[in-house]
Amino acid sequence: AKIAVFISGTGTNMAALLYASRLEGAPFEIVLVASNVADAGGLELARIEGIATFAHPHKGHSREDHDAAMEQAAKDAGAQFIVLAGYMRILSEGFVRRWEGRILNIHPSLLPKYKGLDTHARAIAAGDSHCGASVHLVTPELDSGEVLAQAKVAIASEDTPEGLAARVKLAEHQLYPRAVAEYVSRGNDPEYLLARVRELAL
Ligand code: GRF
Repeated sequence: AKIAVFISGTGTNMAALLYASRLEGAPFEIVLVASNVADAGGLELARIEGIATFAHPHKGHSREDHDAAMEQAAKDAGAQFIVLAGYMRILSEGFVRRWEGRILNIHPSLLPKYKGLDTHARAIAAGDSHCGASVHLVTPELDSGEVLAQAKVAIASEDTPEGLAARVKLAEHQLYPRAVAEYVSRGNDPEYLLARVRELAL
């Protein structure tokens, strides 16, 4: 499957996806890395690896116009799925609806806990024993789509949000490539196909 990865920052999850996609038998390839931040670190890494990149700062554009430009770039690259990896923009409802079932996101909490920002600090403040990361389908409501996979990370009593975030990212880098691979391959799964046939027959 061809995927476009949207990033806003360092792009370490994008890098994890990229190197996973280079392993023998990987079921996805990255055809585009796109960002709303012109100097996002991940763009440089993608360029070095010969992946097409697209940078389109959102300043001065309406949400719809900015999304349309990102969407066009993904389409032009032949993307079948959009994979958000630290993309810090909320997508417009129209965009999300057009790609329904074909946009994934990774969020640094064990959803449904701690949607939104500052998840690590909130988990520490709540005295939780664990936090983690979730891969989920994107729906118009923030961080609320179906959860596809999760990884748990223990919280230590001396943890700072930064230290915890770094460990959660190590888990994310394992989780995201696996969840994307499973999701894009689900069409080969007999159980999934059977469920779809039942759905259509109703
Ligand atoms: C990750 O923690 C991810 O869960 C969140 O944004 C961060 C992106 O980090 N959505 P990176 O740019 O992949 O390093």
